[in-house]
Amino acid sequence: MEEQQKSSHVVLVMVTFQGHINAALQLATILHSKGFSITIVHLELNSPNPSNYPEFTFVSIPDNLTESQLSDKDIPGLVRSVNKNCAAPLQQCLEKILHSHHHISAVIYDSFMFCAQPIVDYLGLPGVTLCTHSALGLLFYHVFPQLNEKDCISGLESPELQALQLQGFHALSSQNPTEAGMEVGAAFANALKSSSAIIVNSMEFLELEVLSKIKQYLPTPIFIVGPLHKLAPTMCNSLCTEDNKCISWLNKQAPKSVIYVSFGSIVNIDKQELIDIAWGLSNSKQPFLWVVRPSMDRGSEWTESLLNGLEESVGERGFIVKWAPQKEVLAHAAVGGFWSHCGWNSTIESICEGVPMLCRPFFGDQILNASYICNVWKIGLELKNLERGNIERTIKRLMVDMEGNYIRKRAMDLKEKAAFYLMEDGSTSCSFDGLAKHISSV
Ligand code: UDX
Repeated sequence: MEEQQKSSHVVLVMVTFQGHINAALQLATILHSKGFSITIVHLELNSPNPSNYPEFTFVSIPDNLTESQLSDKDIPGLVRSVNKNCAAPLQQCLEKILHSHHHISAVIYDSFMFCAQPIVDYLGLPGVTLCTHSALGLLFYHVFPQLNEKDCISGLESPELQALQLQGFHALSSQNPTEAGMEVGAAFANALKSSSAIIVNSMEFLELEVLSKIKQYLPTPIFIVGPLHKLAPTMCNSLCTEDNKCISWLNKQAPKSVIYVSFGSIVNIDKQELIDIAWGLSNSKQPFLWVVRPSMDRGSEWTESLLNGLEESVGERGFIVKWAPQKEVLAHAAVGGFWSHCGWNSTIESICEGVPMLCRPFFGDQILNASYICNVWKIGLELKNLERGNIERTIKRLMVDMEGNYIRKRAMDLKEKAAFYLMEDGSTSCSFDGLAKHISSV
């Protein structure tokens, strides 16, 4: 088996978003440690740094994307463009690899790169889907389009999950999906039908009921391999430069006093929202560390002056960076809360450090993750709107009030469960062995 894996070659096709790049490279690192040789196929926009991974082969394919498309709010439209623009180059790339390597054991592709599946079908290669979102996301985006309201809650015992499913179901059916959204949804579901396996960066104990529900509808083997960031050796995959000065600032703060604020790598914020966030943070009187990406307000020049003004009014109590070493920040003793957009990576990183969350989802799976956090695991509070008075009050509820203490306690309990899950012999290592076997045998 080990011998067989030594000669096994996996091609991993990633997309261009930070959260997706992290998970793909972490997965590749673990598969490499299990004896697989790895080729990473990536888009030109937001290429990873190959020098961090000298043992992998990196191949870039043209994507015809512009920076401005990345800061657009139309994510389905962007995903559709990625797949349209990249299908032909991806096929040429795989054909070239086949000619030079003679053998590809499997092509693992990010679920956003669904154009890969028909290509691998055509080339006679096994395709494996990598979900960088939760199993719940898999259920909603890949299985739900075919379900009705009754199917949606059948088989779920916990009332919280039933409520969550119904809420998500109604939210999705009341939205008028755009043409791009419908096209992307159908392509996701089609790719899954012929995919030979699905990999999810989650922990089984977090999503047991959802997983068994997925199995009712999908016969495809599912490997739950998370939390990848804890399993792969630490390596900085950040597309932006991390500002480590915030760690020295955190070192000076009292334990669990700081609220860390970050909205991931894609979310854009309107001018008024940014002003309200600034005032809400300032008026809360809590120390805060805030990530304001330069592209977050679509490049407005006034941001710099707003932030300078804010720094003057809050003085040493606030610290603003363009990009933070997030995993280190969440593990820091001074951090007592995480105000997040609820991207799946941020969610799982926060769970692993026992940090309670303030949830302000913006789109897509972030809405499901926020509901998981607030209503099912009960380790966070939802921020219903970005009005400054509401921000101030909700920060205080989480960071100062008794209610926040209960939430913190539950977050710490979940952290312990995650640590125990990671130590157990079964779970994740078993999943990886199963995945390695699957890839070697297909
Ligand atoms: C996107 C989608 O927005 C999200 O809904 C989906 O679940 C995953 O893909 P993104 O917006 O980038 O993800 O958020 P998230 O999944 O949370 O990933 C962000 C990553 O960037 C995390 O690994 C986080 O640690 C890292 N990060 C973020 C930093 O290292 N520094 C920062 O300052 C901010």
